[in-house]
Amino acid sequence: MKSKRLNMIATFIDKTDKVADIGCDHAYLSIFLTENNLCQKVIATDINKNALKIAQNNIKSKHLEQKISTYLSDGLLNVSDYEINTLVLSGMGSHTILNIIDHIEKFPIKKLVIQSNNDLKKLRINLRKKGFYLQQEKVVYEKKHYYVIGLYTKKYTSLKLREKNFGKYDINNKDYYNYLALELDNITKKLKNSKNTKEKIKILIKKKLLRKYL
Ligand SMILES: C[S@@+](CC[C@H](N)C(=O)[O-])C[C@H]1O[C@@H](n2cnc3c(N)ncnc32)[C@H](O)[C@@H]1O
Repeated sequence: MKSKRLNMIATFIDKTDKVADIGCDHAYLSIFLTENNLCQKVIATDINKNALKIAQNNIKSKHLEQKISTYLSDGLLNVSDYEINTLVLSGMGSHTILNIIDHIEKFPIKKLVIQSNNDLKKLRINLRKKGFYLQQEKVVYEKKHYYVIGLYTKKYTSLKLREKNFGKYDINNKDYYNYLALELDNITKKLKNSKNTKEKIKILIKKKLLRKYL
């Protein structure tokens, strides 16, 4: 698969997982997981009719329509496969992702693989409240963007203040280091430009937290 980001997401998937690729768009990830036998089953869903049509055509062109079921659905709302135990939610915002997670009670979901486009702190904190704990994060750099991909499961883990803000830094993941270094640059610039004392203190605290990683 061409996309480094989707490849990285796939590294979080295990052989025994029964995956829903939520917001599948063109179903590239669903097809990759199925063609490479990376999990037990995949279903592909999207809220957008046109995206799902393209997904269905792509699945058909690979002769995988017997293996990948598709659903036009907001999250899992129209999904009737109650075996699904793993969700991939990527390329959406945290608000949408958290809304989707609010409606999964009919499914035995044990694992989430999430690449959110924004509000990562809010995501990490709110998923804990819903019973999903951050186990690991990886960062991948593609098309001039850093993408943070998180693995959440039901296994309780603590989350330090610096992890809430900047994630579970993996020292072996070079893109993660570069991502944090860029964050530090941005924070330093913000600090320079800030005129408000309260805001300055907040930024200073963030900078101190980030310094512990770098
Ligand atoms: C930017 S694309 C990301 C596609 C793919 N997941 C990826 O990571 O490359 C976001 C997709 O999520 C879909 N989407 C947005 N909100 C959704 C929801 N509530 N339920 C299902 N799909 C949704 C959009 O229609 C779109 O196809």
